[in-house]
Amino acid sequence: MSFPDNFLWGGATAANQYEGAYLEDGKGLNTSDVLTNGSHTEARKVTWIDKQTNEKGYTPVLWGEKFEMPEGVTPAVLDDAYYPSHTATDFYHHYKEDIALMAEMGFKVYRLSINWARIFPNGDDEQPNELGLEFYDKVFDELKKYGIEPLVTLSHYETPLNLSIKYGGWIDRKLIDYFERYSKVVIERYHDRVKYWLTFNEINALDLAPYIAGGVLNPTPQNRAQAAHNQFVASAKVVKLAHKIDKEIKVGQMLAFQPLYSYTCDPVDQVKIMELNQKMLFYSDVQTGGKYPEYRWKQYEREGIILEDSPEDYEMLAKYPADFLSFSCYGSSVFTTHQKEAENSGNLGANGVKNPYLETNAWGWATDPECLRIALNTLWDRYHKPLWIVENGIGWADVLEDGKIHDDYRVKYLKANIKSMKDAIELDGVDLLGYTMWGCIDLVSAGTGEMRKRYGFVYIDRDDQGNGTLKRIPKDSFYWYKKVIQNNGSEF
Ligand code: BG6
Repeated sequence: MSFPDNFLWGGATAANQYEGAYLEDGKGLNTSDVLTNGSHTEARKVTWIDKQTNEKGYTPVLWGEKFEMPEGVTPAVLDDAYYPSHTATDFYHHYKEDIALMAEMGFKVYRLSINWARIFPNGDDEQPNELGLEFYDKVFDELKKYGIEPLVTLSHYETPLNLSIKYGGWIDRKLIDYFERYSKVVIERYHDRVKYWLTFNEINALDLAPYIAGGVLNPTPQNRAQAAHNQFVASAKVVKLAHKIDKEIKVGQMLAFQPLYSYTCDPVDQVKIMELNQKMLFYSDVQTGGKYPEYRWKQYEREGIILEDSPEDYEMLAKYPADFLSFSCYGSSVFTTHQKEAENSGNLGANGVKNPYLETNAWGWATDPECLRIALNTLWDRYHKPLWIVENGIGWADVLEDGKIHDDYRVKYLKANIKSMKDAIELDGVDLLGYTMWGCIDLVSAGTGEMRKRYGFVYIDRDDQGNGTLKRIPKDSFYWYKKVIQNNGSEF
């Protein structure tokens, strides 16, 4: 058996990295609207103001490292800073053109997120913003015109900023209610056109980047644990309400997955890998598996973490787990306790070391031809729930030559990854619903805020200073992917 006939080929984006129009038609600010751009050596920063003294400043948001805002400051947009999300690549005004390009490639599915602050500008408003709702009406109608199935993420690094400032982000249980209210409004409005939903993008990013994943301004271990618990409960509530609104709806979890390798055969390193796997899979054990694993309770006991919870929370988790498990997977990482013997990976967001067997891109991300097969088998064996690869791809500083992009490096990467996912279906029998390549049309990088780090099949004329015409130019990979979809992955 190869790719099933109804296999969902397509691409993925996120509102804050793609839409722009950051204050148009009543939209409020979200957490990414106060993030500057960085690079592969420099972290993005949250900008803030001290309302007492009027002092302004920047705090770096490093993936996996300590994030500490000065006491008493408020995240805010500053006049002299540059914010890539404000215009991004302007899907807001180009959605017709972009969806036509997706249709030309033959997309069966398009993964996008709804910008929560477009619907509830402050997150805790009583009534939704009608103009925001109308924008997504137009997008879903356009997709329907071409027979493209939407896959919608409810929260992709887009917590309304007010919820972060007023409540400290997802550490407060009130966000469960606000998220439920928002989800009810959009699921009721769009369920006739949207059957596949995801609650939180890369929920385990709460470990690495709690501000980005949950608007958490004070990420102590206690606060991270509480934010995760609150998102789990919110997710279960959305599964319940979505099934009630429409029996055909499927609500999935979204996990950031990467195979983790040990650099040495020292058993101490194997234990480290085991613990890192637990750290990652804890999130799917709860959201897809339906219960907290023992290893996590033991950790909370050791660290003195006490959750604000109730017995009903655990009933909800058990009764309403995710219907399917989706994940991102870009490559693998290597870890060791023998740090000095290995070379640094060069990846700003990871603490791992370089894998001597793999090539890396300019940002130190290792491209691993086996990563999808390993990911799919690990998750299938553990949960036996349908899987969906909703992010995979390679960031590259594409260069225009005579008005064209010859991105053979991207095709090479995707060929290896598609082969790996085909193996998981053919050789291992995993149940895979679809594949959406990340950043199918160029957008802003989440990790660095750069335009230079591009993933798309379509190039957009825009640079890191905000210059460019926003013109769309199909790359060589555009025509290659079109053929892959046409023959349903039998040749690539
Ligand atoms: C995932 C995110 O972590 O990776 C996306 O869900 C992100 O939002 C993608 O863009 C690629 O990462 P980056 O940092 O290269 O944009």
